[in-house]
Amino acid sequence: MKVLGVDASPRRNANTETLLDCALKGARGKGVRTEKVVLNLLRIKPCQACARCSETAVCYIKDDMQALLKKLKTCDALIIASPVYFGTVTAQLKIMIDRCQPAWIEKYILGKRFPKKRRGMFISVSNYNNKNFFRNSKEIISILFAVLGIGLSSELCIPCLENRDDVRNNLLLRKKAFQRGQSLVKSIRPSMRIKE
Ligand SMILES: Cc1cc2nc3c(=O)[nH]c(=O)nc-3n(C[C@H](O)[C@H](O)[C@H](O)COP(=O)(O)O)c2cc1C
Repeated sequence: MKVLGVDASPRRNANTETLLDCALKGARGKGVRTEKVVLNLLRIKPCQACARCSETAVCYIKDDMQALLKKLKTCDALIIASPVYFGTVTAQLKIMIDRCQPAWIEKYILGKRFPKKRRGMFISVSNYNNKNFFRNSKEIISILFAVLGIGLSSELCIPCLENRDDVRNNLLLRKKAFQRGQSLVKSIRPSMRIKE
């Protein structure tokens, strides 16, 4: 069983990545393998809307997205973590999501289904004390999860974070993320047992 974590923040080891690391640690504590992908380190070109994937469900752009899409499609659980930028997810994450268009084609045009039950979690942080800033991101993530055949396990959206160490200095938040990672694994365990 594998949990994939996608870090969409360009700021390394800051609030988003710290929460993601805690959630992945919680998952590992439940005996699963984890992998973290830092989007800002990858070379992913934005979707060119060429429609070449519309019949084959294969993107013609050869970059780091090929390997990442495979990971997104095969993991048992997925954690997406992004700060709020201008009321939505970061550009790094939006580029990744748009490049999931081949998965959209597979599901909605070619009628393919993911064979196993998968679960996902969304982590987000923002500066202002205004929960509305998470609205767009939550909507976008729900669309992504639907395309990938992933059921939403939980959302952890934390406002009022600005300094890069805010989460690192807050044991309660780190504990919360850790526990959510554990719960994510618990939410997929029953279905995995049936399959194994
Ligand atoms: C370009 C940019 C846009 C941002 N837009 C928003 C915003 O719309 N609303 C908000 O509350 N915070 C906004 N923020 C603040 C970040 O969400 C916040 O500082 C967060 O902690 C950054 O995550 P990180 O610590 O993982 O880098 C923005 C920050 C940047 C750099």
